[in-house]
Amino acid sequence: MTKTADDANNMTTMKALVFHGPNSLALEDRPKPTLIEATDAIVRITTTSICGTDLHILKGDVPTITDGRILGHEGVGMIEEVGTNVLGFHKGDKVIISLITSCGRCSFCKKAMYSHCLNGGWRLGNSIDGTQAEYVRIPFADTGLHLLPPGVDEEAAVMLSCILPTGLECGALNGQVKPGDIVAIVGAGPVGLAALLAAQLYSPAEIIMIDLDENRLEVARSFGATRIVNSSEGKAAERVMALTQAAGVDVAIEAVGLSATFDICQAIIAPGGRIANVGVHGKSVELHLERLWASNITLTTRLVDAGTTPMLLRMIQSGRLDSKKLVSHRFELSKIMEAYHTFGNATKERALKVVIKNAPSRTKL
Ligand SMILES: NC(=O)c1ccc[n+]([C@@H]2O[C@H](COP(=O)([O-])OP(=O)(O)OC[C@H]3O[C@@H](n4cnc5c(N)ncnc54)[C@H](O)[C@@H]3O)[C@@H](O)[C@H]2O)c1
Ligand SMILES: [Zn+2]
Ligand SMILES: [Zn+2]
Repeated sequence: MTKTADDANNMTTMKALVFHGPNSLALEDRPKPTLIEATDAIVRITTTSICGTDLHILKGDVPTITDGRILGHEGVGMIEEVGTNVLGFHKGDKVIISLITSCGRCSFCKKAMYSHCLNGGWRLGNSIDGTQAEYVRIPFADTGLHLLPPGVDEEAAVMLSCILPTGLECGALNGQVKPGDIVAIVGAGPVGLAALLAAQLYSPAEIIMIDLDENRLEVARSFGATRIVNSSEGKAAERVMALTQAAGVDVAIEAVGLSATFDICQAIIAPGGRIANVGVHGKSVELHLERLWASNITLTTRLVDAGTTPMLLRMIQSGRLDSKKLVSHRFELSKIMEAYHTFGNATKERALKVVIKNAPSRTKL
């Protein structure tokens, strides 16, 4: 017999994707989360996804994540329960979950650096259990959730949890993309593609997309990249320099998280240019100050704050931003191991963003 939403709500256990150390994941039965603080909400997840950061976690690149943690920091769902101090949300509201937990009161929140909130930050699927499950506990629900407006597609909306604000804040805004700029984005995964969509809002003259994956590069071209460069022969920097008549690029956005891709950014940045690092790095990189010391460049790093999510949501609502086109595959939660395999073998599987539907049987997949 298939479970209905009401059956699922009455159960005390749930299915969840649990991390057991590098390269070890399992779909397990775990206790359903309950309210701990009066500012918490419990959300029944209907759509979640896998981020490139989850792949870094699997490789062991994020040491804060310990054995037994439920992964996932992206999600859309329905509120099942709220604590007595949650003022802006009620049971039954459909919500977008921000990957960033923020108290709204600490010194970093006051500076809009929510990712460094002294009582929060990136906690979901990191220091507390995350969204790749049937239910999740959201601390500081008033700031960590956004109402999903009627008519906004859930798959488009789940891109607002992490990748769209990341592409905009860590990529386009930190890189200060301006009209007429030449921009290079290294990495055409979902985050690089989100940076491509975000950069276009600022009217650059050229966007050069660099990746090893021909399918993702072709997708990038269809999303508006003016040039694509396949870096599989190790000649990406030379190709970009040739494409720019040896001038280099005004903005280089690193959206992979490897020393090789950071090196491409350092090799192609023009004097006065901005390197915006987005990728999560598990190993150190070499900073080539012997070449760059006199180049007047700016290097930025950032953990996404997700303060731009309401603005991006309005752009999706108005039709100005089409984030649903980032989705390539759909799975049920029971098939999440397959979803990880597909996303982790993106070239072979021709995968972009994979979404996981966690709705009871009445939602058609
Ligand atoms: N700073 C933040 O707050 C933040 C937030 C979210 C994601 N991230 C990071 O952004 C990065 C991208 O995320 P994603 O979901 O797109 O990941 P992904 O793994 O799907 O994409 C990475 C892309 O890099 C490409 N790549 C790998 N090696 C390359 C090389 N040598 N040259 C060119 N391209 C190469 C791959 O082919 C792939 O398309 C990850 O490091 C992720 O952890 C950072
Ligand atoms: Zn993410
Ligand atoms: Zn705070």
